[in-house]
Amino acid sequence: MEEHIYWKLFLSYAAVLALSIVIMFFVKISLISFTLILVMITAYSTWLSSFFISNIDRLSDAIFEISKGNYRPVIAKTSSEFRRIEEAINDLQERLIGTIGELSASQGKLKAILSSMAEGVMAVDAGGNVILLNRAAGEMLGLIESEVTGRNFVEMIRHPDITSSIRAAFSGGSQEKEIGVSLPQERKLLVHAVPVSGGGVVTVMNDITRLKKLESIRTEFTANVSHELKTPLTSIKASAETLIAGAVNDKENNIDFLNKIMKNSERLSALIDDILQLSSLDEGRTPKDVKPVDAAAIIDRALDTISAKIKQKKIKISVDIGDGPVEVICSEDHLYRVFLNLLDNAVKYNKEGGSVTITGRPYNGQIEFEVADTGIGIDAEHLPRIFERFYTTDKARSRELGGTGLGLSIVKHIVELYGGKAAVSSRINEGSTFTFTLNKA
Ligand SMILES: Nc1ncnc2c1ncn2[C@@H]1O[C@H](COP(=O)(O)OP(=O)(O)OP(=O)(O)O)[C@@H](O)[C@H]1O
Ligand SMILES: [Mg+2]
Repeated sequence: MEEHIYWKLFLSYAAVLALSIVIMFFVKISLISFTLILVMITAYSTWLSSFFISNIDRLSDAIFEISKGNYRPVIAKTSSEFRRIEEAINDLQERLIGTIGELSASQGKLKAILSSMAEGVMAVDAGGNVILLNRAAGEMLGLIESEVTGRNFVEMIRHPDITSSIRAAFSGGSQEKEIGVSLPQERKLLVHAVPVSGGGVVTVMNDITRLKKLESIRTEFTANVSHELKTPLTSIKASAETLIAGAVNDKENNIDFLNKIMKNSERLSALIDDILQLSSLDEGRTPKDVKPVDAAAIIDRALDTISAKIKQKKIKISVDIGDGPVEVICSEDHLYRVFLNLLDNAVKYNKEGGSVTITGRPYNGQIEFEVADTGIGIDAEHLPRIFERFYTTDKARSRELGGTGLGLSIVKHIVELYGGKAAVSSRINEGSTFTFTLNKA
């Protein structure tokens, strides 16, 4: 209870006493009866005021506790006017608890949504202070929400292009820009800063690094395909033109031109086959004819296809995949393609009289196949990129040998389509070992 209320009470008692003494002089009643009346009046008014004071005290304490956030119902102690105030306070308190509950639930939902979003979201208030930074935005910009909240965005964001986008949004323009950041990681972000009513700016960031990489792979692929198609076509055209110009009657050389046309047409056809194969693998759909396939039969088929090359280079082939049948889950055609590409390389990049060993061993519920050769080997600098499309260690040599650099990328795509992995280890001038895994049937 406030001090001044007691003072007021004391002063009103003094005033009543003074007034009573004045009345006593005018009405002239006996001192005893007057004192008696005075005592009764004083007792009653003391009881009355202490009743009001204690209730006001109790209710103001309850309101004070509510303002501090300590909610507990006010116990109804009276049946007078205070009862209505008590009920009103309880009612108010219940509604307040309800509203705060709803607010914190929706704030919780908002927080959960924001933190699970792949897009980065950052909000700054009219004064430029950060009021929200979700998990994704923190990761993209290398910031921690608790450290940046309440601080000015210019101090916190170390990427000038992003701060200038936010500044532009503060001046009323909505900005969408592709911005490259190097910290904490090299990324490309699509940043959209929008002014919001109330004077702040909300910035939404999309990580488009992967998209950009795919875009550049696609552009590179198209350029490579066009180039690879153009080379044999130019040669075919030139040979045909020479024949038409008269070489057709040159009995000694005309067959050479025709052979050139034949060789380059085969090259074109193989290239188109590979591209079609890759494009169907890109769709990521496993073919319908997936069933247990006997690896031994497929290896024989692939060796048969390149038997002329094997003979010509005097390559020794040994196959060791165990005694019983080795069956894996794959489409027959895909497994044939994998072995054909690996064996073709193992022979093509081998030395004359070299050897190729094919092994197959069960490993963790899968079969791990190995194609090892004693060939020219691959320099360590090329190994990380060897499975990329059109990647060759020596473009001229590959072309000379009729290759385009698509074989290994097809191998990798096929193996991964069935949940396996392809890998390589190699030593220059000693040989290479390609391994891949497929699920055991
Ligand atoms: N067993 C190997 N030994 C040495 N180098 C290899 C071997 N296998 C692949 N390479 C290197 O990796 C490159 C890519 O191989 P890949 O099979 O993808 O293409 P390619 O053989 O040149 O052409 P393609 O297979 O499309 O006819 C080759 O050009 C070659 O430089
Ligand atoms: Mg090859």
